[in-house]
Amino acid sequence: MALVLSSWIFSVDVFVSFLLLISCGIVYGTETDILCLKNIKNSIQDPNNYLTSSWNFNNNTEGYICRFNGVECWHPDENRVLNLKLSNMGLKGQFPRGIINCSSLTGLDLSVNDFSGTIPEDISSLVAFVTSLDLSSNAFSGEIPVSLSNCTYLNTLKLNQNRLTGQIPARLGTLARIKTFDVSDNLLTGPVPNFTDGHATVNYANNQGLCGGSLGICKATSSSKSNTAVIAGAAVGAVTLAALGLGVVMFFFVRRAAYRKKEEDPEGNKWARSLKGTKGIKASYILMHHCT
Ligand SMILES: *[C@@H]1O[C@H](CO)[C@@H](O)[C@H](O)[C@H]1NC(C)=O
Ligand SMILES: *[C@@H]1O[C@H](CO)[C@@H](O)[C@H](O)[C@H]1NC(C)=O
Ligand SMILES: *[C@@H]1O[C@H](CO)[C@@H](O)[C@H](O)[C@H]1NC(C)=O
Ligand SMILES: *[C@@H]1O[C@H](CO)[C@@H](O)[C@H](O)[C@H]1NC(C)=O
Repeated sequence: MALVLSSWIFSVDVFVSFLLLISCGIVYGTETDILCLKNIKNSIQDPNNYLTSSWNFNNNTEGYICRFNGVECWHPDENRVLNLKLSNMGLKGQFPRGIINCSSLTGLDLSVNDFSGTIPEDISSLVAFVTSLDLSSNAFSGEIPVSLSNCTYLNTLKLNQNRLTGQIPARLGTLARIKTFDVSDNLLTGPVPNFTDGHATVNYANNQGLCGGSLGICKATSSSKSNTAVIAGAAVGAVTLAALGLGVVMFFFVRRAAYRKKEEDPEGNKWARSLKGTKGIKASYILMHHCT
């Protein structure tokens, strides 16, 4: 009896373990985290061999990637990447898209390297859950992607010391948890975002022309210039319309006067008939002269 019970407990145990194993495999996706690091290593240049010397994928013990340079795992014995800290390693190349397969990542630090090219448009689908994203002190160019506003867990966003151009997407203001927002030392222009929570520490120093918020009201920009153009255009239009209206009124007035004249003056009648077929404005002009 005891034997039967214990064997039953044993099989339940095995079954539960099996379930846990499956669910861990699905939820944690440690295989994809390994693939993530492999793709990153293959996609970037590492002239100082920081990764080459440490990121060895041949030793397949559980949690082996957690001992790689710059890799922090959720648990030291589980291949699930929590943070990737690759600061100041002399790394080169484009933003590593392979990061998409580190699906449990909460922090990415690529600061102080030689990364270049644009920040991917779809960055929010590559690092959806990061609370900290530091791309500072690289050579990233192009515009700040609006999709960063979809990284809703962001506490820290550092894009300073790059070559970013254009305007800062206003939608970044919707990042509700942002505490540090640094875009200093870039080539940005236009209004700064209006962070809804208002407690963010921001740094906008050394850009080409940022304004708004604490930086003061945005002065006449191209958009307000075009506003002026619209107003001027409308004024010209109104004057033209008024002149045209006046012309039409005058034409009918003069024509009525001519009609009245025609009844009492046969010569005028002849005049009016001779004008038949000529253009209205011209006719009114001539009639006006004739009548006065
Ligand atoms: C694999 O890594 C573990 C932990 O770092 C180490 O103890 C072991 O010697 C390594 N095995 C091989 C074959 O490199
Ligand atoms: C992510 O992993 C999948 C397999 O799980 C692979 O097909 C894909 O190429 C990887 N994505 C990137 C950007 O490396
Ligand atoms: C942000 O997320 C929403 C909802 O998932 C999606 O509809 C939208 O296209 C995303 N925007 C960007 C710029 O990625
Ligand atoms: C900024 O946000 C505050 C609070 O949400 C709002 O009252 C204010 O009008 C906004 N200012 C601009 C310039 O959008």
